[in-house]
Amino acid sequence: MAEEKLKKEETLVMRLKLIGQSCKLFYSEDPVKITRARGQYLFDENGKRYLDCISNVHHVGHCHPAITKAASAQMDLLNTNTRFLHDNIVLYANRLAATLPEKLGVFYFVNSGSEANDLALRLAQQYTQHEDVIVLDHAYHGHLKSLIDISPYKFRKLAGQKEWVHVAPLPDTYRGMYREDHPAPGKAYADTVKDLIEEVHKKDRKISAFFAESLPSVGGQIVLPEGYFSKVAEYVHSAGGVFVADEVQTGFGRTGSCFWGFQLQGEGFCPDIVTMGKPMGNGHPLACVATTVGIAEAFTANQVEYFNTFGGNPVSCAVGLAVLDVIEEEDLRGNATRVGTRLMDLLRKLQAKHEIIGDVRGIGLFVGLELVTDREERTPAPKTAAWVVKRLKEDDRICVSTDGPWENVLKFKPPMCFSVENAELVVRCIDCILTEIKTSGLKLENEDM
Ligand SMILES: Cc1ncc(COP(=O)(O)O)c(C=O)c1O
Repeated sequence: MAEEKLKKEETLVMRLKLIGQSCKLFYSEDPVKITRARGQYLFDENGKRYLDCISNVHHVGHCHPAITKAASAQMDLLNTNTRFLHDNIVLYANRLAATLPEKLGVFYFVNSGSEANDLALRLAQQYTQHEDVIVLDHAYHGHLKSLIDISPYKFRKLAGQKEWVHVAPLPDTYRGMYREDHPAPGKAYADTVKDLIEEVHKKDRKISAFFAESLPSVGGQIVLPEGYFSKVAEYVHSAGGVFVADEVQTGFGRTGSCFWGFQLQGEGFCPDIVTMGKPMGNGHPLACVATTVGIAEAFTANQVEYFNTFGGNPVSCAVGLAVLDVIEEEDLRGNATRVGTRLMDLLRKLQAKHEIIGDVRGIGLFVGLELVTDREERTPAPKTAAWVVKRLKEDDRICVSTDGPWENVLKFKPPMCFSVENAELVVRCIDCILTEIKTSGLKLENEDM
């Protein structure tokens, strides 16, 4: 068992006093203290094991020995900044380039998804010499001021929408304006972007970029309709803007069949800028922007150096290389497809049994289970979702979280070593909780929780 420096209660008291209260804890009423982790499992101070269905950051598994070894070996040897020549950064950029379309061949290494998106915004504005940005409703792109401005999920609760930011409808075919019965939802949603561009032009403003997650996660684990990105890219390009795919949550094979989420939109589609982060360093702060030679040249032309003290250092790149190796050596994309397919099958069977499950969606190990009180009306059931999360933690030691504008979507983005047995266990436990709610007549949505 890992050594505990403080008793759990002491940690909590110190945390409440010393750490800003806007930094939230999972399970705030009864937080879990995790002292070590391995693979898809977390262990608390008493050695009790929890199954992690949340962390898409610890992509190849918590504390994977190959990653730890690569980091410590490089740390023992050298860690400098990118102003010295070093093999790791170029070898790593080369490996990333091999996963991307040829056009995306220039890389900037940074430390977080937010830094990546902030740089993407600068690249887009410098290249196009335009200012305005189109984002999807409910999107989150990071915690820097520039990104709060382009994240409706945040700015709606804060100062509001800036005049240079424009919000397009989220292409959610379950609950959005065009649904599963629409003959061509991809084109229909893309046309809402076209209309928005026309509105922007009427105000004498110009589009620099369209930003979207390849599978909107905070928006509720949405799988975008076919053809949407290609059509949007066509409209955005003809307005002189660029297409930014935020792969901070969805990259590195999470969807199984594709290495990048945007590739689900077909071979013909290629963004102009891709941002990546979370899973990239398996917990080590490593993120990146990939772009085209043309955009990079426009950025260089302003004669201002881009220097990032920690971005792309030899240790970070050694970690990044090791993550890519493990994804390949352990066939984690194949695993995501196998386990994700089984998870979706089981959840669909559960949907046939429980009225409260309105929708099951996802691909690979990016899966959402949407709870509703009424299937016809699709009325969100956030309190039931919160109850399921609480019970899974307390009764079964399974960590799951919720997302979506109404927090009624149970989301699964576990480490990629998640097993079929793990998936079966989670579904069995959810089944028990939902059955109990039904048989006990518990009316959670009417309760004050
Ligand atoms: C889609 C997306 N983009 C960007 C970010 C910001 O990344 P970071 O927290 O590493 O700054 C997040 C973080 O949750 C995210 O989900």
